[in-house]
Amino acid sequence: MKNISVIGSGTMGNGIAQTFALFNHKVVLYDINLESLKKANTTILNNLERMLKKGIVSDSEMKRTVENIHSTTDFESVINSDLVIEAVSEDFDIKKSIFKKLDEKCTEKTILASNTSSISITKLANSTKRKGKVIGMHFMNPVPIMKLVEIINSKYTTTDTTDRIIELSKKLNKIPLTVNDFPGFISNRILMPMINEAIEALDQGVATVKNIDGIMKLGMGHPMGPLQLADLIGLDVCKSILEVMLEGLNDSKYKPNKLLNELVSNGKLGVKSGEGFYDYSNTKKAEFVSKRFC
Ligand SMILES: NC(=O)c1ccc[n+]([C@@H]2O[C@H](COP(=O)([O-])OP(=O)(O)OC[C@H]3O[C@@H](n4cnc5c(N)ncnc54)[C@H](O)[C@@H]3O)[C@@H](O)[C@H]2O)c1
Repeated sequence: MKNISVIGSGTMGNGIAQTFALFNHKVVLYDINLESLKKANTTILNNLERMLKKGIVSDSEMKRTVENIHSTTDFESVINSDLVIEAVSEDFDIKKSIFKKLDEKCTEKTILASNTSSISITKLANSTKRKGKVIGMHFMNPVPIMKLVEIINSKYTTTDTTDRIIELSKKLNKIPLTVNDFPGFISNRILMPMINEAIEALDQGVATVKNIDGIMKLGMGHPMGPLQLADLIGLDVCKSILEVMLEGLNDSKYKPNKLLNELVSNGKLGVKSGEGFYDYSNTKKAEFVSKRFC
């Protein structure tokens, strides 16, 4: 498990690449979008510089981490990996075509993992001929900081694959917890209805953005309010996860509410687009509520 590839260099992909590289794995970071790769490299460098200032990494660890990452738009670079982690947009058809291509091109030993938040690992495994070597490896955002990796076993995942992924996660100083393959798994099945309800409450005028988040932080001991967390995850990602659960669990309680749909169609996706419930145009910190919600 030395050579790791990450497909998709967005919010999650760059964090996953940074984490593996820091723990001395050789990482290929692949994306179809060169701009996204450039942004990922800048994010990784900024993160490492912050960690250096705080004394979390040394100069040499930072240098080695950067050297361990090879960013590329060339798909062939991933095919000899021990493990490939797919972290592209939450869209079944895109993921399915990637798994199919990975299965055709990668060496027999390669384990294929998905960082999906909600999509069926069993369905992704069905697009390959190595069903036992397909698994969910759901990192949390921000990856370099969050301890949990939710490990999802499809109905085909072999014990050997699960054991190796658990062992690898521990070596990254993470805590792996296994779940079975249901839409949204555990983390998002519980988190997303709360986020959806917070957005619905905002839309009904029950309270302001700051007060909804403040109540959940002060009253429930959450480190971050649901609206700020939705911005961090990406409002498009939240919408996609709810849609997967709506279809897969066949329950209208998972239907993304109208304000969430509206923000996504207007390109207000949260931190990554510069605006969601908060305004990130001047700062990466959610200090200013978006004008729309003042
Ligand atoms: N954002 C979160 O907080 C979070 C947390 C856990 C898991 N996830 C999951 O991680 C995955 C990625 O989410 P994200 O927030 O990083 O998304 P994102 O939109 O930030 O990034 C997606 C990246 O995938 C790339 N991409 C799209 N199609 C591709 C293809 N065919 N080949 C290669 N690259 C392609 C895009 O260029 C982009 O860089 C999703 O499945 C999401 O559900 C997200």
